[in-house]
Amino acid sequence: MKLPTRLPVLADSAAIEQAALLLREGRLVAFPTETVYGLGADARNPAAVQRIFAAKGRPADHPLIVHLSNVAHLDEWAINIPDNAIKLAAHFWPGPLAIILNKQPTVPVEVTGGQETVALRVPNHPVALQLLQAFGGGVAAPSANRFCRISPTQALHVAEELGDTVDLILDGGACTVGVESTIVDLSTERPRLLRPGHISYLQIEAVLNTALLLPPSLKPTHTASASALRAPGMMAVHYAPSTLALRYRAEQLPVLLRELTASHKKAGLLTYREVIPENPIAQVIQLSNHADAYAQALYASLRQLDQLQLDIILVEQPPESEAWRAVNDRLSKATRAY
Ligand code: TXA
Ligand code: MG
Repeated sequence: MKLPTRLPVLADSAAIEQAALLLREGRLVAFPTETVYGLGADARNPAAVQRIFAAKGRPADHPLIVHLSNVAHLDEWAINIPDNAIKLAAHFWPGPLAIILNKQPTVPVEVTGGQETVALRVPNHPVALQLLQAFGGGVAAPSANRFCRISPTQALHVAEELGDTVDLILDGGACTVGVESTIVDLSTERPRLLRPGHISYLQIEAVLNTALLLPPSLKPTHTASASALRAPGMMAVHYAPSTLALRYRAEQLPVLLRELTASHKKAGLLTYREVIPENPIAQVIQLSNHADAYAQALYASLRQLDQLQLDIILVEQPPESEAWRAVNDRLSKATRAY
């Protein structure tokens, strides 16, 4: 493992004040949210926002989420705000939900990737909220990882990913949700789910009292598929470890292990049930069989296996029920089906 050059700093009030000062100077600050760590910059400062893209190695046409301290700031960023946005904000903010709205003309194109819409979210993490309050404005923040890599759920993961390209890393402990926010697009007539997350589309439909348009992979009858439609700006290969990662079904495991043994491969295995390690499995990580607890630990576990110099990471396919949608969505991008 490469030793990080910039170490996280405990997010006490002095560190948070310093972080707000850095944001005002156009510098980059990584901070915890309840979903994953974000790489933040002043969303009103195009040069600062460009630094995010440089640090991540991310193409400039991928839009960013603007983080706000509360819903009262919504109209500084969005126009034609529908009642549905107010309803969702009242219900789920602060929380793991990003809402896409038509943007104010003043929102820098660097933030929106040239689109006429902007993504907004009030995160539910004390450090994020204190930072947003101290800073006073909107903070553009993607997940604090290099482009196409696994999102960081601990401060040290940010240091490993970004080193000293980030000016300060606030350490607020491990993220409790562990997968990125649910994204709902309210910029057009029919509300549309763009990315599944901890807040399910059923919860959103219950609040809006209307059906959401869903990507094909999320229709209840449809099974997860690597070729399913993605949210704009999302790619099929995403959230991926460097080690080859294969997703298997329980009944496939004996054959798979025989194949790997025959070709002298060393494997790591991630599952939610008990698996007795046998040749060629060097390491087993057993997560919870509850989707929320599994999601919380998923990225850290993939990172851990990724650092063991294995030939392959095997991930057992979780159930394809609604509770596992967000996990299955991320696994369909992080792994290939066997
Ligand atoms: O949980 C999260 O949302 C985390 C934390 C840090 O808040 N952030 C995050 O950001 O996951 P990022 O950049 O890794 O993912 C944001 C996603 C991208 O896939 C982007 O395409 C989409 O949001 N997005 C942003 N603005 C959009 C827009 N105007 N229209 C459609 N999609 C948009
Ligand atoms: Mg990301």
